[in-house]
Amino acid sequence: MRSKNLAAILTAAVVLAACAAIAVAPAAASAHEEPVGNLAELMRAILFPNSNFLFDVQTTDPGTPPEPGSEDDRSASALFSGIYTGWQVPQQAALALAEVEPLIMNAERKCENGRDAPVANEDYQKWARQLTEVAKQIYAAAHEEDQEKVSDLTNNLAGACEDCHAVYRKYQDRCRR
Ligand code: HEC
Repeated sequence: MRSKNLAAILTAAVVLAACAAIAVAPAAASAHEEPVGNLAELMRAILFPNSNFLFDVQTTDPGTPPEPGSEDDRSASALFSGIYTGWQVPQQAALALAEVEPLIMNAERKCENGRDAPVANEDYQKWARQLTEVAKQIYAAAHEEDQEKVSDLTNNLAGACEDCHAVYRKYQDRCRR
């Protein structure tokens, strides 16, 4: 009887452990997914184009109707350029920047020179978080469709990029203090 109870308890423990493992698996997988590109490529693919969409708001009101594209251009990007327009453009760009932190912080990420990305350093972590915070504020302001507010916040965005770059994007010795 005793050993039966023990077996039941052990079975329950194994099942619970399995459930716990299932419950935590998605978060762990996304945080440690093997990166496809190095840090410079990630910057060029996500940070650079999306921050430029936001800097555009300084000079162009996203609320004005878009210019019609050339009818000769049959590329997919030209054909579908009118689908997500206006305020959606800075809203989407801010979203991309607000969600990129886990990719910047991926523990497996390498820099272009082969060095590990400095994800263990407190200042790097702080600046990656700062980028998220600014991008969230821009996301909110873009949903309010407030050009002045978005435009002002892009100064903070440039500062968030620059704080980290001043230390880790040095031309001679990247990704090291
Ligand atoms: C937490 C630190 C950090 C933040 C925040 C950050 N960067 Fe970077 N960035 C880097 C590092 C480090 C490199 C060098 C990467 C390498 O050499 O692999 C870099 C490189 C770049 C490059 C150059 C890629 C090349 O061609 O060599 C661009 C462009 C760039 N970042 C854009 C941005 C923009 C725009 C922002 C803000 C929206 C930003 N970064 C925010 C750390 C950061």
